[in-house]
Amino acid sequence: MIKEYNIKELQPGMITAIPVRTKRGQLVVNEKVALTGALIARLEFYGIERVRIAEEDDETTFGGEEELEPGYIPAKTPAPIKSPVLDASYSQQVKKSSEFQKFQVDFTLRCNDIKECFESFLVSGNVDRKKLLEDTVSLIGPEQTTIDIFDMLHNMRQVNDSIFAHSINVALISRMIGKWLHFSKEDLDTLTLAGILHDVGKAKIPEEILNKDTKLSDEEFQLIRKHPKLGYDILKNLAVDSHVKKAALMHHERCDGSGYPMGLTLDEIDDYALIIAIADVYDAMTAARSYRAPLCPFEVIAEFEKDGLQKYKPEYILTFLRKIAMTYQNNRIMLSDGTTAKIVLLNSNHLSKPLVQLDDGSCLDLDKSQLYIKSVI
Ligand SMILES: [Fe+2]
Repeated sequence: MIKEYNIKELQPGMITAIPVRTKRGQLVVNEKVALTGALIARLEFYGIERVRIAEEDDETTFGGEEELEPGYIPAKTPAPIKSPVLDASYSQQVKKSSEFQKFQVDFTLRCNDIKECFESFLVSGNVDRKKLLEDTVSLIGPEQTTIDIFDMLHNMRQVNDSIFAHSINVALISRMIGKWLHFSKEDLDTLTLAGILHDVGKAKIPEEILNKDTKLSDEEFQLIRKHPKLGYDILKNLAVDSHVKKAALMHHERCDGSGYPMGLTLDEIDDYALIIAIADVYDAMTAARSYRAPLCPFEVIAEFEKDGLQKYKPEYILTFLRKIAMTYQNNRIMLSDGTTAKIVLLNSNHLSKPLVQLDDGSCLDLDKSQLYIKSVI
């Protein structure tokens, strides 16, 4: 059975019956996706007023995987979440804060600056290094903690997911990694600039291909894989640090040789590119996709652990994952079965699986359980 709901009546866990599009036809959330607080905020942002929801007793809608369209990747938790404590609460708290409101405005302005900067490259070949850097770094107030930045970035997801927003995210995450690795102020600035400009080559790829909702053809896929080289070509004659140029060229290389465009290995890849690779993958994993909700940080850590840490420089990836996990220590979380708990002790051998304390006071070692952390609440 399909029922139409007003945006105000939507609850996390409800499942969309049909793709939700704006009046201009832009896809906001695909069909058969379990809504989260973040996705509901995204729908609100796009001015969606009514959403058609598949009700639970609808056997025909969710009869099984064979009914899913080709290429569809089901949301990780297709069943509605019954817990009264919803993952929306934490996110909504962040979004209501005046810091977030300011961040949102600044972030959107910075995106426009970066867009203009990319476009001016194509025309004049000049980069206003100082302005770009100052603008981006100014997004991080001196008093902001790691958790503030990561929360802000996570919550910006629903409002701006363009490649310019991605560039700022990668710059800020890279800068954070650089700080954890005790980079000097000057090196942090170079690393941040490398983050802002790492995907500049995408400015040479038609927007219809970059934003394509459907599967890419082989030619389109190969064209997108050219963006590191295209970016390097844009930057190579400019007066910017060679790390910035190499980061554009090498951020898709992987330490085990499995990356592109050259299949380089650890010793051959620029150090800054190694950091940006981690920030880039982290940001892509936490992004909302039309076919699924954004992954929570612990799901991302699990993905890194599953995918193989040998792809990244050990010192960098371990520092990064440990810091991310530590950021959320003592936070309340929701487990994959909908129960809520608090993180009490990290497991350094398996960072995505800490020891948690359930609401009845008992402790659960996630490393010995099938359950995993579904969201930070
Ligand atoms: Fe890239």
